[in-house]
Amino acid sequence: MALTQQDLHGLVTRLDAARTRLDEMAAMLTDTEWMGPYFPIVNPPRWEYGHIVWFEEHWCLRQKPGRNPGASPLLGPLEASLRLWTDWLYDSSRIPHKARWEAPMLAVDEVTAYGVEVRDRLKQKVDAGSFDAPFPYFLELALNHELMHTEAWWMMWQWRGLVPPYVPSIRSLSQGASLSIPPGPVVLGSTRERAFVFDNEKWAHEVALGAFDIDTRPVTCGEFMEFMMAGGYEQPSLWSEAGRQWLVTRRNHNPLYWRREEEQWKRRRFNKWIDIARDEPVLHVSRFEAEAYAMWRGRRLPSAAEWVRAACEPGFELGQCWEWTGTWFAPYPGFVADSYDDYSVPWFDTHVELRGAGCMVTDPAIARPTYRNFFMPDRRDPFVGFRTAK
Ligand SMILES: [Fe+2]
Repeated sequence: MALTQQDLHGLVTRLDAARTRLDEMAAMLTDTEWMGPYFPIVNPPRWEYGHIVWFEEHWCLRQKPGRNPGASPLLGPLEASLRLWTDWLYDSSRIPHKARWEAPMLAVDEVTAYGVEVRDRLKQKVDAGSFDAPFPYFLELALNHELMHTEAWWMMWQWRGLVPPYVPSIRSLSQGASLSIPPGPVVLGSTRERAFVFDNEKWAHEVALGAFDIDTRPVTCGEFMEFMMAGGYEQPSLWSEAGRQWLVTRRNHNPLYWRREEEQWKRRRFNKWIDIARDEPVLHVSRFEAEAYAMWRGRRLPSAAEWVRAACEPGFELGQCWEWTGTWFAPYPGFVADSYDDYSVPWFDTHVELRGAGCMVTDPAIARPTYRNFFMPDRRDPFVGFRTAK
């Protein structure tokens, strides 16, 4: 679907709103927190900010018309960057993770100025109307990319216990029940009318499903506590082979960010320890813990297709957290990688598909029904919970 000039200005407004939210978080960082200690699962904010800006510049300002945008910059398909060495410093496919703490990154004021300059040039390009056909797609790509990194910042805030600009609210869940879904087809993937989707959402296709039963809402903290109290972490029969391996090496006995204080379980929300609300969704559990809980209830995790089929039923509660599914992240039939070919391809078949239409810090643009999130099954730092099925 071709975008009008008005649509493009609307996209620029959304890009500015996304940057405002990123800058609100950045304003909370002290000088040392901009870099912070090394962790394999997060990025230093000073690198990540530069990466977001580099990505926007790379796709929206530096593509030469008619050249292959996925080819190496060494082959010369790109215009020069506004800053030196950005392709070496900020391309996540190129710079090793550890080096993001060690390489000579732009200083904080330099990287934010780089962001302003790239955004100004982008607006000039939109105003002038001087771009070729793929440009509107790349604008949307840059927007989605920035929104996803902003959510990754919320995860990092939680992981590192940083002071947030505000505390996002989590709704309490209803009493809960289950839905009985009759056999029938479900459509997975996006139709071609949508303005922007990632390659892994293409395209709509039908999948046949048998009858199943699924929870109307995610598992709550109170329910998960019952599993813990019943010795769920100590019963090997509840855990998959990979789950048992995970338990042996990690020695976890409760969700991430939980601890016991004088007979009372508490959880850390960013920089504060608070009481656990029993009727909120349990968050920060691995897929192994989710599977073991489901097994303890005599159930299992829903497949991604079952989740999508059930999500359109009245009474199905969603949007409080990402949810583990029983489905590995894999390409849909006829998959072809888009220009940004590192978005999906490197993660197929090793990552698990998550559904849920986003968590409390997911932007609505990302929470579209066809969006497929994906993480390794041992990750607990995303705002992820689960529901069960049978
Ligand atoms: Fe990225």
